[in-house]
Amino acid sequence: MPKITYVDHAGTARTVEGAVGATVMETALRNNVPGIDAECGGACACATCHVYVDEAWAEVVGKGEPMEQDMLDFASDVRATSRLSCQIRITPELDGLIVATPARQG
Ligand code: FES
Repeated sequence: MPKITYVDHAGTARTVEGAVGATVMETALRNNVPGIDAECGGACACATCHVYVDEAWAEVVGKGEPMEQDMLDFASDVRATSRLSCQIRITPELDGLIVATPARQG
């Protein structure tokens, strides 16, 4: 199972196992990882699942669809590697993925 590491705003890293086909948001919730609220349940309609993809993974993960980009406008402190974690589906290639959660979601 691909391992996903979530780093909170204080720098604490939590590594959990994610299932292929699940999203990075769902995996956080299932494992009680703090910092991802996911108020809309993954409908790309709230931006409370905002994460920063680690630079080393940005290319592998890629950019979001236009709908996600629009929703990111509602997130705070958006950066070049910002993504909505409910829109990142886990594949075997994402084993080792590192994402950070914004301070506002801490
Ligand atoms: Fe609402 Fe991702 S959970 S946008």
